Amino acid sequence: MDQPQSDALVFFGATGDLAYKQIFPSLQRLAKRDKLNGPVIGVAKAGWNLDQLKARAKDSVEKHGGADPEGLPKLLDRLRYVDGDYADAATFAQVRKQLGDAQHPLHYLAIPPSLFGEVIQQLKSSGNAEGARIVVEKPFGHDMESARKLNQIIHRVFDERNVFRIDHYLGKNAVQNLIFFRFANMFLEPIWNRQYIESVQITMAEQFGIQGRGAFYDGVGALRDVVQNHLMQLVSNIAMEPPPLPDVESIRDERAKVLRSTQSIELEDILLGQFEGYHDEPGVKPGSNVETFAMLRLHINSWRWRDVPFYIRTGKNLPVTATEVVAKFCQTPPVFSEQVPPQNYVRFRLSPVPETAVGASVKQAGDRLLGCMTELCVDSDCGTENLLPYEELLQDAMRGYQTWFAREDYVEESWRILDPVLKNPPSPLTYKPGTWGPPNVTPAVTPPGGWVNPQNPSQK
Ligand code: BG6
Repeated sequence: MDQPQSDALVFFGATGDLAYKQIFPSLQRLAKRDKLNGPVIGVAKAGWNLDQLKARAKDSVEKHGGADPEGLPKLLDRLRYVDGDYADAATFAQVRKQLGDAQHPLHYLAIPPSLFGEVIQQLKSSGNAEGARIVVEKPFGHDMESARKLNQIIHRVFDERNVFRIDHYLGKNAVQNLIFFRFANMFLEPIWNRQYIESVQITMAEQFGIQGRGAFYDGVGALRDVVQNHLMQLVSNIAMEPPPLPDVESIRDERAKVLRSTQSIELEDILLGQFEGYHDEPGVKPGSNVETFAMLRLHINSWRWRDVPFYIRTGKNLPVTATEVVAKFCQTPPVFSEQVPPQNYVRFRLSPVPETAVGASVKQAGDRLLGCMTELCVDSDCGTENLLPYEELLQDAMRGYQTWFAREDYVEESWRILDPVLKNPPSPLTYKPGTWGPPNVTPAVTPPGGWVNPQNPSQK
């Protein structure tokens, strides 16, 4: 069925951090490519006026990729601003006025989840929800129960086909490539299963700390900030079955099925950490037990993956910034007795510079039967149209295309997997900034053969 194109974009939280770092740069690019229709209305309670918002937009793009001589004027021309409290019906009456004759606005809630319910209700009572779509930022709830409640609140006003739960990881080309590479190449899929793969490990390492976001971060921690969403998205793309059809729901069904077959985490399968000095960060509560590091093991009980452990490791203040997936194959039998046979692997570097590599052994020069590990490595970003994640996702939402958005059941399953540890979290162990997390981790959260640390992450 043809979906109407959104003819206005309303973004709540227009003066916030996310808008500054991600949304304005993406809007500038959308404006340049003539992908915006109608007004772009920023809403916030900051006591600002339109000129101040325009100045903020200009500053934002200058600091994040540069002002585009064509895109920026086009964006500024569309920009409108409504200042007001989200609890006040007058704010929403103003939004209605600014929408003019738009029939299908896209409302983007780039605001704290605690405000979602109120804004959604106000959208409805002001008539702004009619014919509209809604984009909701992560984290979607803080556990399974709250995600369910939030879904109920949203569904009182918006049908699921008009709900876009955003996770910017799904807008990354390298993340979409995990699915593409698997199903567009004949050589990998026949061996991408428990008969050939020994274990899968995912590292999302960040060299920086919490960058002044203490008040936000201390309310979420690593599990809610990146594991429940970004890293589960990676697990789903790595482990999903080929969709029977290339349509939106077939792809989303397969991604949701991975989570459905994943066991809820048990305490022995997780280790949490907190970097030394976390308590000195502004906004962090004294004595906070919130984790800035997590290492966990997942069990996916599907036909394809049963008994193949999936490991996840993420943290702030680690030695490098890089996200990488390494799938290790089982060992070959020892034909050449001089050496323990090396294990092949597939490595997907997702950031900062995407690449796809296969680890293989070749014979060393000389008269002995010894091998060296080498990598067949390709740059996985071919093509020229490099869209920013938010650029692609907002463009998709405006045309009603939901493939790269989390469906209701998917989000609930991802919380179900983490719920036992969220309810009863182990105390985080301390680690020194610049190290790979707490020392002495348990074997349960260590992949066979150990963690593979991303090498030369900034190298092209
Ligand atoms: C955000 C988290 O969603 O993702 C941040 O809130 C994290 O804590 C960021 O740093 C990572 O995204 P990216 O695209 O920079 O890898």
